[in-house]
Amino acid sequence: MAASSSLLFTSLLVLLTFADSSVQVLGLGVGINYGQIANNLPSPTRVSYLLRSLNISRVKLYDADPNVLVAFSNTNVDFIIGLGNEYLQNMTDPIKAQNWVQQRVQPYLSRTRITCITVGNEVFKYNDHQQWSNLLPAMQTVYNTLVDLGLDKQVSVTTAHSLDILSVSFPPSAGAFRQDLGEYLHGILNFHAQVKSPVLINAYPYFAYKDNLNEVPLDYVLFQPNQGTMDPFTNLKYDNMLYAQVDAVYSAIKALGHTDIEVRVSETGWPSKGDENEVGATPENAGLYNGNLLKRIEQRQGTPAKPNVPIDIFVFALFNENLKPGPASERNYGLFYPDGTPVYNIGVQSYLPELIYSSGSTTNGFLFCCLLILAMACLIFS
Ligand SMILES: *[C@@H]1O[C@H](CO)[C@@H](O)[C@H](O)[C@H]1NC(C)=O
Ligand SMILES: *[C@@H]1O[C@H](CO)[C@@H](O)[C@H](O)[C@H]1NC(C)=O
Repeated sequence: MAASSSLLFTSLLVLLTFADSSVQVLGLGVGINYGQIANNLPSPTRVSYLLRSLNISRVKLYDADPNVLVAFSNTNVDFIIGLGNEYLQNMTDPIKAQNWVQQRVQPYLSRTRITCITVGNEVFKYNDHQQWSNLLPAMQTVYNTLVDLGLDKQVSVTTAHSLDILSVSFPPSAGAFRQDLGEYLHGILNFHAQVKSPVLINAYPYFAYKDNLNEVPLDYVLFQPNQGTMDPFTNLKYDNMLYAQVDAVYSAIKALGHTDIEVRVSETGWPSKGDENEVGATPENAGLYNGNLLKRIEQRQGTPAKPNVPIDIFVFALFNENLKPGPASERNYGLFYPDGTPVYNIGVQSYLPELIYSSGSTTNGFLFCCLLILAMACLIFS
């Protein structure tokens, strides 16, 4: 017992010292995707300290995990929460949508800042036409529920697309949506314009690089110095692929008649490891991609077509997720290993407290309070 309380004390001193902010932290405008397809992640309470050490205050979830929402009570972290594709059918039913909002969102709103709900993720990537048809009605029904409950000013509604929705992505000014999605995207864009919510895209220059090794220069996708490419129709110069992808989506939206909808990046990232055929998936490249991206976000850069709109980005992802199916890269997008050590250096200091562990976050909060009181007592009586 004596040994373990002195261990507690030492660890808490570290924690308290850290809270005094003797560690230099960066002010990052970036958001982070907090994916949880893993069985070895730290508790949400510990994660809240990790994010605080990184000064990251925007988090995107793929669900509405109450453990996370509770663990981030009374923090200044903004959350995008998600309704998975499996909910789309039910969310077209106003009663079910209302039940979901009342049970999964409303109870947490007084303490946790939930600013946005993504209804479905990459729905058009899969060939399930029933889902395609359900998407807009589900978005509308969730939105109408928020209106009925007086929450629509606080919480917006959108969905996240993969770049598979484009048939042309280069040059950016020629960006166009796939023909077969026209009837769906028309309605969805009208919805965005009406409720003033952004279009979210999951954009991975890594995929374009990996699939076109001979055509795509690595420096261009990694935000490294390079010759860049010129859009022959606009004469705008692109020095990286991500900005070209974003502007291609702006062009596609414009082609459907909208100039008033913002495009944001709900996911981007680079794997630190992959299978043998996944060329480029290395810690060095991932460190360059994410490190260079952070610098640009800090500079509040816009894309060439929208220079005055600082690009809004959620990096994928916070942790490596060991239970994700698919090629090895899928399990290796994290900035951190589950034990809180960085997978590679992106020039940012981080800290995951060691002692606060348990599976339930309520227990965590309680445990943390006890530890804090114990540490205070130790300080006073030592
Ligand atoms: C944290 O980030 C915010 C903006 O994102 C910035 O205003 C603040 O100064 C940062 N704090 C530290 C300690 O870096
Ligand atoms: C959809 O609603 C049905 C009937 O209420 C329910 O059994 C089912 O679990 C719901 N689906 C999801 C994904 O919540």
